[in-house]
Amino acid sequence: MDRRKHITWSQSQVSKENRQKLHNHKSCMVWLTGLSGSGKSTIANIVQTKLYELNMSTYLLDGDNLRHGINKNLGFSSEDRKENIRRTAEIGKLFVDAGIVVLAALISPFEEDRKLARFLFTEDEFIEIYVECSLEECELRDPKGLYKKARLGEIKNFTGIDQIYEPPQSPDLVISTNSKSPEECANELVNYLIERLK
Ligand code: ADX
Repeated sequence: MDRRKHITWSQSQVSKENRQKLHNHKSCMVWLTGLSGSGKSTIANIVQTKLYELNMSTYLLDGDNLRHGINKNLGFSSEDRKENIRRTAEIGKLFVDAGIVVLAALISPFEEDRKLARFLFTEDEFIEIYVECSLEECELRDPKGLYKKARLGEIKNFTGIDQIYEPPQSPDLVISTNSKSPEECANELVNYLIERLK
């Protein structure tokens, strides 16, 4: 519900552009979507380190981590996932306003929710990355043992098993992780970002 009736926007005297100048680079939201176990967090972490080493100001919003705090009251129904994505995108927007390169690593399985996230940003600010990996490979990796539990019916609404994943229709970049090392995948993304943020 929108309760903004008696609320007015307070304009900041320091602009996003001021802050970007301070950081010496543009800010943006790099949104990584993909199945659980596809490699989103791993890649985002390596990318974060590499950008840090290039003196860039970054922050990683990881779905699992946010679910320990700001999103700890949310589960995995489609409504809760929508709210999870909405809050993460809004937090990311604040970081982008602060001049930071934000990496968000969330399954974010539904196209409509990712679209709503995109709407919060300007066109060049939101960069959607599809971390593509077959369900078979993710299930083989099963880093947290969750696919096994989902197959046994111990976890409900598990993405790819009993809830759908909608691949992005027109992502800015597709990174296929089936047969490449995390390092190779991260390099692909870093090279792409360096070009985009020029
Ligand atoms: S999202 O769909 O709402 O974007 P998010 O990325 O925050 O999901 O959280 C996914 C993580 O929660 C997975 O990496 C996995 O560790 C854990 N998880 C627990 N239950 C589920 C479930 N039913 N479906 C998917 N992931 C789950």
